Amino acid sequence: MAYALEIKDIHKTFNKGTINEKVALDGVNLQLNEGDFVTIIGGNGAGKSTTLNAVAGVWPVDSGSIIIGGNDVTGLPEHKRAKFLGRVFQDPMTGTAATMSIDENMALAARRGKKRTLKWGVTKAEREYFKEKLRELDLGLEDRLTSKVGLLSGGQRQAVTLLMASLQKPELLLLDEHTAALDPKTAAKVLELSDKIIEENHLTAMMVTHNMKDAIAHGNRLIMYRAKKRRIFTYRTCLPSLRKPVGENSQTTE
Ligand SMILES: Nc1ncnc2c1ncn2[C@@H]1O[C@H](COP(=O)(O)OP(=O)(O)O)[C@@H](O)[C@H]1O
Ligand SMILES: [Mg+2]
Repeated sequence: MAYALEIKDIHKTFNKGTINEKVALDGVNLQLNEGDFVTIIGGNGAGKSTTLNAVAGVWPVDSGSIIIGGNDVTGLPEHKRAKFLGRVFQDPMTGTAATMSIDENMALAARRGKKRTLKWGVTKAEREYFKEKLRELDLGLEDRLTSKVGLLSGGQRQAVTLLMASLQKPELLLLDEHTAALDPKTAAKVLELSDKIIEENHLTAMMVTHNMKDAIAHGNRLIMYRAKKRRIFTYRTCLPSLRKPVGENSQTTE
């Protein structure tokens, strides 16, 4: 069976040939099986976001290839890869449209890849479905379907973004420090939700974090990026003995 994600020897240098030249990725290789949930940790500027951006096709890589679920997407622009991916970024503002309501945001996510219009509004059936999904977040958002997303807290927005990213069961969920801008309690809650959504939907996921504890406690694999030695990967399967429950409600799954 094809890997959920295969990264083959990708290289990326920004501003090549200028004084600002920066080698960001220097031969990165990675294979993820379906259902793998890998956490990525490493110093600032080590190339973590660049790796996720390379997978998402934010710009072309210089060499190497990226294969998602058996599809070679290396030559595809970002919008053509979007159907394979769910993404949540650090900034809670980026994943949702502030001036639109929760149900409108969710409807757009649910219709991704289909006819992407809200001309006929959100249907009753959709609304019921969204309500059910929001109830599972346990943040009281199921009663605020028509509230503008801009009125939500950062944590609530990240939770809604996560939900939206999973509505269409992407081949791969990319989380780039998606709790870094939240206070510790909210961050823990959003991480717990991330675990739940990944597990319940059997998603394959990559999560960048700068928190070593979180990197160890979540997922089934951990990758460490070393900034100085750019030739990146030391990765290993998490040692079960290192994994501890995070928060009161979560459990370790071995
Ligand atoms: N769009 C860009 N333009 C120029 N340089 C970039 C760009 N994106 C990342 N870089 C550089 O590439 C290196 C890796 O960055 P990044 O992947 O964002 O690191 P991090 O591990 O902190 O997420 C850094 O030196 C960064 O400055
Ligand atoms: Mg980054």
